[in-house]
Amino acid sequence: MLYLVSEFVEAKGAGGRKILRRLMNVLLISLGGLLWGQAGGGGYDQPFRPQFHFSPREHWTNDPNGLVYFEGEYHLFFQYNPFGDVWGHMSWGHAVSRDLVHWEELPVALKEENGVMIFTGSVVVDRANSSGFCRGGKPCMVAVWTGHTSETGTKPALQTQNIAYSNDHGRTWTKYSGNPVLNLNMADFRDPKVFWSTQGKRWVMAVALPNDHKVLLYVSADLKKWNRLSEFGPAGATSGQWECPELFELPVDGTQETRWVLKVGLNPGALQGGSGEQYFIGRFDGERFQNDNPAETTLWTDYGKDCYCALTFNDLPKTITPTMIGWMSNWQYARDVPTSPWRGQMTLPRKLALHTTAEGIRLIQQPVNSLLGLREAPIGVHETMTGTGHQFQFTSIIPLDTAQEVGWKVLAKNGTFTSIGYDRVKGLLYVDRTHSGEVGFSKDFPTRTEAPLKLNANRLRLDVVVDRDSVEVFAEGGRVTMTNLVFAPQDADGLEFYAKGGTAGVVAGSLWKLRSAWGK
Ligand code: FRU
Repeated sequence: MLYLVSEFVEAKGAGGRKILRRLMNVLLISLGGLLWGQAGGGGYDQPFRPQFHFSPREHWTNDPNGLVYFEGEYHLFFQYNPFGDVWGHMSWGHAVSRDLVHWEELPVALKEENGVMIFTGSVVVDRANSSGFCRGGKPCMVAVWTGHTSETGTKPALQTQNIAYSNDHGRTWTKYSGNPVLNLNMADFRDPKVFWSTQGKRWVMAVALPNDHKVLLYVSADLKKWNRLSEFGPAGATSGQWECPELFELPVDGTQETRWVLKVGLNPGALQGGSGEQYFIGRFDGERFQNDNPAETTLWTDYGKDCYCALTFNDLPKTITPTMIGWMSNWQYARDVPTSPWRGQMTLPRKLALHTTAEGIRLIQQPVNSLLGLREAPIGVHETMTGTGHQFQFTSIIPLDTAQEVGWKVLAKNGTFTSIGYDRVKGLLYVDRTHSGEVGFSKDFPTRTEAPLKLNANRLRLDVVVDRDSVEVFAEGGRVTMTNLVFAPQDADGLEFYAKGGTAGVVAGSLWKLRSAWGK
């Protein structure tokens, strides 16, 4: 708009108009500044706009891609349509952060070109210039992604693995002239996750054969030539396509002992319907992943509806806990969520660990510590409160006593609420968003998501993070994680405790309102 009006005045020309032109520009710049300011420092204050979760300024996003830490910066690339708010023209958007909470969106990193879309993939830091792409004796970044060519009247669809490199901290990328680096001539062969294997001192890629419910492992010395190593699957849940595989190592109970986690996206047919993710716990000897559990054991990373294609950061220093971010939506209704001018956002970054539980070794997730920096002063939690706002974190310990069911209603007002509860008779944690506000845009949205949860004592610990359009629950120190979108009215700011079928003890807890991370 600013551009259009100045051009118009310019076109009218003549010296006498110069002053008018300057005046117009000053006026427009001030007006722009005013609107910008009102929009909360950079256009991030629309209804439902998350304030400390990453969402693109405008347009569509799905999976996080290429999560990597490099020289003090966390890089988040993401499936992005630069031209609209529904899926299409897939490219890699790019954002950077120094603390995983304040993000700066940068120009699109990898663009669709010659009819080849840039699907999901990963980024590695090539420290020893194994690829030959690095300049000036310094490490460089190499991206590995799936190139997707759609089906035409004469040709079937094709998915191949491709690479590109950057010598300026991911700001600009050059696609390798020898692409594709891996081609099985298949329509479904995607989502390469590459990491440096210390066992074999070589690169390992986990990549999905979605319709065969298999993860293939490849190795390479230079990121260009790939050899097939082994395969895993089918196992666990297989009712939909397998996508976004990832293999990573974690310490068990904070000791020197480790296990490998093989995480796989499933769409459709996940536990809560639509897209969701399962994981396998096992061992990886540098060649083969071996499941510690029987093939039919199915473990879920998240028990909500809205966490998909999560990825961990490559190249984190040993001092930083392994951290994972997912796409906070579900393919059942992602294109219908009532947000504008963007659609799609990421989950909170989560710290990962493995703990030995009564059921076996399980993945534990907790919000990253940098969220603490956004906290306002703590408020004691009462059984009925108003004025929580809709960006907050709270922690509560609920002694169950004789109650059969206990829980909290958040974002509550006049019959609108999202409940987070525990049914001790059934041993289930749940989040019910059937009355959460706007739910009618898809029949698959108004749901109650449930997770089996056995308590170690007769009390329940809940850590809950609410950011305008999402509720993330970490129960029992992160043993169960449940991520759900909600679209509550802007004035729904009540918090209410409830107990059914008996009484609960005195609930202890704290609540912190969280400041916006945008524009600071
Ligand atoms: C998963 C997915 C990936 C694919 C990408 C395309 O959400 O289907 O398998 O690479 O999205 O946008």
